[in-house]
Amino acid sequence: MTAVAAVAARVAELRASIAAHDHAYYVLDAPTVPDAEYDRLFRELQALEAEHPDLATPDSPTRRVSGRPLEGFAPVTHRVAMLSIRTETDTTEAGARAFDGRVRRELGLADGDPPVVYAAELKFDGLAVNLRYEDGVLVQAATRGDGETGEDVTQNVRTIRAIPLRLTTDAPPPVLEVRGEVYLRRDDFESLNEAARNRGDKTFVNPRNAAAGSIRQLDPAIAAQRPLSFFAYGLGETQGWAVPATHSGVLDALLVLGLPVCHERTVGTVDDLIRFHADIAARRDALPFDIDGVVYKVDSLALQSQLGFVTREPRWAVAHKYPPQEMLTTVEAIEVQVGRTGKLTPVARLAPVFVGGVTVTNATLHNASEIERKDVRVGDTVIVRRAGDVIPEVVGVMPDRRPPGAAPFAMPCACPVCGSLAVREEGEVDSRCSGGLICAAQRKQALLHFAQRRAMDIDGLGEKIVEQLVDAGIVRTLPDLYRLGLLKLAELERMAEKSAANLLAAIDASRQTTLPRFLFALGIRHVGEATAKDLARHFGTLDALMDASVEALLQVEQVGPVVAESIHTFFAQPHQREVVEQLRACGIRWSEGEAAAKGPLAGKTVVLTGTLPTLTRDAAQALIESCGGRVAGSVSAKTHFVVVGSEAGSKLARAQALGVPLLDEAGLLELLGAVVP
Ligand code: IVH
Repeated sequence: MTAVAAVAARVAELRASIAAHDHAYYVLDAPTVPDAEYDRLFRELQALEAEHPDLATPDSPTRRVSGRPLEGFAPVTHRVAMLSIRTETDTTEAGARAFDGRVRRELGLADGDPPVVYAAELKFDGLAVNLRYEDGVLVQAATRGDGETGEDVTQNVRTIRAIPLRLTTDAPPPVLEVRGEVYLRRDDFESLNEAARNRGDKTFVNPRNAAAGSIRQLDPAIAAQRPLSFFAYGLGETQGWAVPATHSGVLDALLVLGLPVCHERTVGTVDDLIRFHADIAARRDALPFDIDGVVYKVDSLALQSQLGFVTREPRWAVAHKYPPQEMLTTVEAIEVQVGRTGKLTPVARLAPVFVGGVTVTNATLHNASEIERKDVRVGDTVIVRRAGDVIPEVVGVMPDRRPPGAAPFAMPCACPVCGSLAVREEGEVDSRCSGGLICAAQRKQALLHFAQRRAMDIDGLGEKIVEQLVDAGIVRTLPDLYRLGLLKLAELERMAEKSAANLLAAIDASRQTTLPRFLFALGIRHVGEATAKDLARHFGTLDALMDASVEALLQVEQVGPVVAESIHTFFAQPHQREVVEQLRACGIRWSEGEAAAKGPLAGKTVVLTGTLPTLTRDAAQALIESCGGRVAGSVSAKTHFVVVGSEAGSKLARAQALGVPLLDEAGLLELLGAVVP
């Protein structure tokens, strides 16, 4: 084999195995290799194709993400018109019987004649596309458009991994057009919207709109990031393919060719259709994707052509609907709920509406940014969506139905549960309660945070116990923990006297702590362990910190405006101070000296650079810290000294530029030695 032939063989091998892995993953839902191995194969193929551009083909998996943004979509004339389906709106079993009656009449069947055989499948709620395979290779994908002419969306459809770029057969037909639905799973839709919400971007109303929007996205790179799926449900033009005699046979054959076909389907008489409709109705919420009904089709293709169609609808198919998952209703009030992390969620109280199979009276509005963007007001007529297990949400407003005088909704400035300041930080989509440990909504979370190992380290105070203590009303605030008695504790479910005694001992032991641990335990937003240490070192005492202004807080290394504001807001609230005082009154102690950064370098930030003549880096750092100083990694205007060794680099230059005082090792030792006992 020549070198070029060897590369070509390897490329073919890689494409085949990637296609097989895609099929296993996206169609069979049974992955065959770990992601890392898949990525390795993919990168190898990409590299080979980049080196040998002549080996590139349209069915290469690397083409799934490629190309430049489109100018617009070219029109595609469908060789076989894409029809729509008649809708049966009677959602009872009479709907199926009426369809069977019509079919039998059209076929001239009498009552005594044998039953007609039907195929039943799901009516997917997405976007219809026609996939054209020539000699087994996907060459074109088009939307339905008006049924005669659609849009060429080949580039975007190529990014859908459930769609094979090449049919899995050694003898592909010259032409095979497959029709089906591009859709978005509910979980993928939720994550897409969640990400948009976190960015403060516009969200999609439902999976169908998201799927349609993604397919009609002019930039294939964006389409590629949308996790679209596909189900085949029919044929367009075929040439040189032995078309099976039945619709169910066609779907089985498409599955063999590597196309995803939904397994929720059945074949039988009208009674089976009724059973299928009822069975799917009962499981509709549990399906991973939206459906708006089921579809019945005469199974025999010969009978289908005998029946033909009226206008644009075949006589041999019908869509039997389910109750809608989106409905209009009115907003009677907007309330704000507080989550266990303090997040404020606006919730619309609605005029009761039957949607997605249940009566809905509340729907989430997600967050402050979303309610502003959608501009939902009390009195508005809104679209409510409820699909699957997902909580009902308001997805849109009908602005022309707004009653006069409806005022824009403003998120409250105070937490509706505890009255603490509610704040929305710059660039954030959520408003939050700043109450933390005093807010009943956040009680359990605050207690768990307080008790964790790196905070107050109360061994044995885990989720189960906190849950019981709070639910039983035994512990309402942090100080309550220190007032617990053995009797109360032993009353708790599954709490043996010995464990109760152990927990009490752990609570007692936690009274002796350090200032950084205590600060971290308070759960002030943005104050993690490291910031707590910095604060303790800088201020020395809790009282100094509690009385610090925002300006004073900004002097602390690593503390920026958001953190400074958060700390200041926390201690500015009398009830937070009250909790701190009560905790102190419960006997919580720390040696001020430990955290108080006494010593010649108290409150000073030092940067080390270069190699010192005698001290190692660690030794120098330990020495500085033991004298109350803090060692930082980079030089800023807040740096007090830079200790310079040999081969010092950019830190020295920066210190000189900023005019930060320089010391050598001897100078450092002298500074410390002057005061160090
Ligand atoms: S068959 C001649 N089967 O419903 C029948 N359509 O109004 C052609 N749809 O635009 C369509 N699930 O997007 C068929 N299992 C299914 C379907 C289905 C969803 C959509 C399709 C079409 C519309 C028909």
